[in-house]
Amino acid sequence: MAELHHLLADRWSPRSFVGTHTMSEDEVDSLLDAARWAPSAADSQPCRFVVGHRDDETHKRIFANLAPADQRWAGRAAVLIVAARLRFGRTDAALPYADYDLGQAVAHLTVQAMALGLHVRQVVDIDAAGLRADLDLPDDMTPRTVTAVGMVGDPAQLPADLRDREVRLRRRRPLAELLLGRDRARLAEPDPQVGAARGEDRADWFRARLPQFMMIT
Ligand SMILES: Cc1cc2nc3c(=O)[nH]c(=O)nc-3n(C[C@H](O)[C@H](O)[C@H](O)COP(=O)(O)O)c2cc1C
Repeated sequence: MAELHHLLADRWSPRSFVGTHTMSEDEVDSLLDAARWAPSAADSQPCRFVVGHRDDETHKRIFANLAPADQRWAGRAAVLIVAARLRFGRTDAALPYADYDLGQAVAHLTVQAMALGLHVRQVVDIDAAGLRADLDLPDDMTPRTVTAVGMVGDPAQLPADLRDREVRLRRRRPLAELLLGRDRARLAEPDPQVGAARGEDRADWFRARLPQFMMIT
């Protein structure tokens, strides 16, 4: 199998963001530009974003509408970005694919973040009504996720249970399981390249990139 591009292969969703790292407006703008150029059904472009930089008022309001479980880590990310979808298009027609489009736009944003040496973790457990009220969003805009973006830091800063999850081996279903038809049988053949796990232990990831984290065992 051909190698994955490293921006995709190296992507993962951390919780251990560096709590002092900040992002420039240029960097944030490039993330939003990546989202802007994502494809959308009938070019309806139904995605809208609100960006909070750590310690600004918008960030506080976004943070306040996260679930307590995500508040344990998300506050350290340099930015929190609300990803919202419009309910209706230009002709007041409903936008049945807007959620699909929004997910794709955030995927593009994620790859651009990787290109800047940053990582992303998306959060779906949000108070959408609270976000709409606190951020004064129009009625036709539905917040769907919050995306935390920042630089990966020392997982030792996390509470013990989250740290264990942070360095755990990531696994995926075998590719054959995702497919039907002829390709399923072909890919079911034993092939070390198409295994269930990427085989990369998070602890190894931290060791390779952040020598100061050698204490992780
Ligand atoms: C739509 C969506 C919603 C998610 N919601 C949450 C969430 O509420 N809290 C959280 O900690 N992670 C959340 N995640 C992150 C996933 O748990 C994570 O992407 C998944 O475990 C796979 O790990 P990886 O991204 O490192 O490959 C979400 C991811 C996506 C795409």
